[in-house]
Amino acid sequence: MNLYNTSLNIITAGQAPSGAYVASPTFSQYGYAWLRDGAWIAYGMDCAGQHASARAFYAWVGRTLAGQFDHLERLLRKLERDDTPSDADYLPTRFTLDGKINRDDWWNFQLDGYGTWLWGLVAHVDMTGDRALWADLEPAITLTVRYLTALWQSPNYDCWEENREQIHLSTLAALYGGLNAVRRYNPALVPDDLPANIRAFVLEMGVAPEGHLMKYLGNSAVDASLLWTAVPYGLVDLADKRFTRTLAKIERDLLRPDGGVYRYADDVYYGGGEWILLSAWLAWVYIELGRTAEARDLVAWIEAQATPDGALPEQVNDHLLHPEHYAEWVARWGAVASPLLWSHGMVLVVKSLLDKRT
Ligand code: BGC
Repeated sequence: MNLYNTSLNIITAGQAPSGAYVASPTFSQYGYAWLRDGAWIAYGMDCAGQHASARAFYAWVGRTLAGQFDHLERLLRKLERDDTPSDADYLPTRFTLDGKINRDDWWNFQLDGYGTWLWGLVAHVDMTGDRALWADLEPAITLTVRYLTALWQSPNYDCWEENREQIHLSTLAALYGGLNAVRRYNPALVPDDLPANIRAFVLEMGVAPEGHLMKYLGNSAVDASLLWTAVPYGLVDLADKRFTRTLAKIERDLLRPDGGVYRYADDVYYGGGEWILLSAWLAWVYIELGRTAEARDLVAWIEAQATPDGALPEQVNDHLLHPEHYAEWVARWGAVASPLLWSHGMVLVVKSLLDKRT
């Protein structure tokens, strides 16, 4: 079994004719397209040279967000009047595969995906030089920037769809990374000081007394999504002490010695297993640091988690942090999502990078 090829096949099969990527084709709750998952899957496809697939995804984002202009205007008017928006007033984190809002009680107010797709789009245009796509998407880019400019300091759900009342560092990193990337292409689209203000806010408020970045303001635990602050978003350099201390704490608290990375120590979702996509992320960080042997070990661990037909789950349940919480999630939603397209997207990212180093 070649996990690179099965990943390509699973992602290709999970891309709707609209261009949207389904989060998981089989899991009861994941039959939708998330901006966050989709942008990472598209980036994986871009790294694998599958630019037409990534382009179709971004064109879908453009059409989908074009359908949200009135929604955004209504929200901005409420904010100007100082009315407190309801959760349905915000833009959603996930859409149906044909780009509609699914009216349910999902934890929709999550900003990170709006930064993620901007970052992914710029990466796609960097790789392909597709200025025509960029021009088509400018209205959607503008809408996203207006949304983020208005709300970046508001508490919202994190990338795990949890902790609605908090301000999360990996979310701010995604906003910084996306807005900064857009500014590089067209400075006129992003307020001058916005990325710098986000970065300054993180570094002023988000460093724990021990010198590492924290999961969210006021909670000095680490979350493996803090890896994003350096790779790829560059809010801190890999050599920055605040990042090296964060990485060391993630390795201490969240990396199992035989491979596999947990989200955070208190994670109870499906009992809290090791996440494939985060294990790939740590491998990506190691590659950037020149720690290639450790990256390869993590990739070997990921390969060992695939089913015989090459499907990767969202998380692995052999060494749960809180096993007493496993059964309640199975009873609620069924077995852990597998295949999860985001897991496969990250495999494409990391394997493409490793291939270039041989
Ligand atoms: C994860 C999110 C992800 C979603 C769809 C959730 O359980 O926490 O990060 O976007 O699943 O894959």
